Amino acid sequence: MMAALFSVSFGLLLASLLFSSTTSAAPTRNATPFEGLLPNGNFEQSPKSSNLKKTVIVGKYSLPRWEINGLVEYISGGPQPGGMYFAVAHGVHAVRLGNEALISQTIPVKKGALYALTFSASRTCAQDEVLRVSVGLQTGDLPLQTLYSSNGGDTYGWGFVADSDVVKVTFHNTGVQEDPTCGPLIDAVAIKQLQEQLPTRANLVRNGGFEEGPHRLFNSSHGILIPPKQLDTTSPLPGWIVESLKAVKFIGSKHFKVPYGLAAIELVAGRESAIAQVLRTATGKSYSLTFVVGDAQNGCHGSMMVEAFAGNATVKVPFESKSLGGFKTASLKFTASSARTRLTFFSSFYHTRIHDYGSLCGPVLDQVKVSPLP
Ligand SMILES: *[C@@H]1O[C@H](CO)[C@@H](O)[C@H](O)[C@H]1NC(C)=O
Ligand SMILES: *[C@@H]1O[C@H](CO)[C@@H](O)[C@H](O)[C@H]1NC(C)=O
Repeated sequence: MMAALFSVSFGLLLASLLFSSTTSAAPTRNATPFEGLLPNGNFEQSPKSSNLKKTVIVGKYSLPRWEINGLVEYISGGPQPGGMYFAVAHGVHAVRLGNEALISQTIPVKKGALYALTFSASRTCAQDEVLRVSVGLQTGDLPLQTLYSSNGGDTYGWGFVADSDVVKVTFHNTGVQEDPTCGPLIDAVAIKQLQEQLPTRANLVRNGGFEEGPHRLFNSSHGILIPPKQLDTTSPLPGWIVESLKAVKFIGSKHFKVPYGLAAIELVAGRESAIAQVLRTATGKSYSLTFVVGDAQNGCHGSMMVEAFAGNATVKVPFESKSLGGFKTASLKFTASSARTRLTFFSSFYHTRIHDYGSLCGPVLDQVKVSPLP
């Protein structure tokens, strides 16, 4: 199963590598790219009360800066009529997309550049709510059935390459439930232009310290889930792909302990989620891989283990987490058997936070480096 998944995504990846080498994007290094909430991205600008029928927004252009279609509710966080409770982590207001409803906004971007959207989304009633995100012709379906944090408001990163100078960003509830208002709650949408990450002679790994990634929402203490099955060319975590079924979490130093720099990855889904990168290597040549394993000082205790695979070698790195933000360096020597070598990491075990059994957590991965051995 794992092997099949790996080889399928490897094929896609190879195709995308070939693609990207023939259509290299315009240089973006000197630009000062926009980063932050979309206009009314936290939905704090309300519709006029005359455009609200109880909570339902009436009129396609009644939600400031957004266009809506179908049954969209304007929600204030907290207890709701009917006994439900909606946690709104970013500000006070959010929108809820009912059966087949969508919201969209048209924004200026730089054609050919890579962007990541960051948005906070949670399911409200059905078990299997799916949020479809689309920008231009690129579409992704995020299943919201797995709750990674128990206080609502999981935050996701989703990447796209702008196919024109103006794109329409759309969030769509594709589901149909018996209760037509049932559907995902969205409470913040931000965007960031990402810088292309290149390998160097000293480190073949692109973005090995996970410093480049989606915008970290101002007050978000949740980290950002990088969903699985993203292509290398559009990954919101440049250079890296997430394999298998579940997400990995991008965490920032403002709310988590990270070993180096401003960001790292938390492997929150055990063996169900692997983070990987395909390196350009020389057949028969030997390399040294080093990486750092630790804990995010977020109440994630216990015996952890990170497994790494590269070329013909593999290593299991145990780490005893006391949730003090400790870390250690691990290493592996491997020999490349072809011009492409896949580097893969996952957590051997599943962990939940000690004071919050609903929140998945796990070991932290940072400072991944591969250099040729003399
Ligand atoms: C962040 O949280 C603090 C404390 O809850 C609040 O006062 C502040 O307004 C929030 N900032 C934003 C941008 O939401
Ligand atoms: C990988 O291949 C190299 C060269 O053939 C060999 O020296 C090394 O022992 C191998 N490593 C493992 C873990 O098999």
